[in-house]
Amino acid sequence: MEKLNVLVFASHSGSNMQALIDYSKRHYTNYQVKCLITNNSNSFAIERAKNENIPYFHISDKTHPNKIDFINEIKRIIDNFNIKLIALAGYMKLLPNEVIEYVNGRVINIHPALLPKFGGPGMYGMNVHKAVIESKEKESGATVHLVNNDYDKGKILAQYKVDVHPDDTPEKLAERILALEHKLYPEVIHKISIGEIII
Ligand code: GRF
Repeated sequence: MEKLNVLVFASHSGSNMQALIDYSKRHYTNYQVKCLITNNSNSFAIERAKNENIPYFHISDKTHPNKIDFINEIKRIIDNFNIKLIALAGYMKLLPNEVIEYVNGRVINIHPALLPKFGGPGMYGMNVHKAVIESKEKESGATVHLVNNDYDKGKILAQYKVDVHPDDTPEKLAERILALEHKLYPEVIHKISIGEIII
């Protein structure tokens, strides 16, 4: 069976991208991370890509101020690497609709909460975990969902839950959820690659 070629978009640490790569080395999987696009030239994801010998591209509204150029550059990479799935992993920008359509809607994201709760504009990073704790939620978790042009609103594909402890700080909760993300995201992409999750 032909491997599912995955393009990762990341803006900062890229630990989820690393988890995808590590999983595909340790387990039998039918996907491979082919390349990285980042909007941030200081992203640690770039270091990770270098270490793994994975090509990376810095593409942002600074490198490509013209939106058509921006979109065409991403399309070129999709074609060059025969990309069949885009995985957003801490990408802090909305992906243009034209790109989503170009891969027939095969774009997924991981979010550090139990969507549809605690998603949408402004709900990223520590803001999410602060909001969960302030709302006195008993549980939180990680969600993998399809991406459309509305933040965190696409169809939910899979979730993992964690209990919120009475003494949790946003930082402690974030750490537990990130560890969960590192398990969930590769599992979901593996299932997509073997046709167990259809998107
Ligand atoms: C993760 O919590 C992810 O859910 C969110 O941004 C964070 C990215 O972390 N979208 P990393 O860059 O993969 O380490």
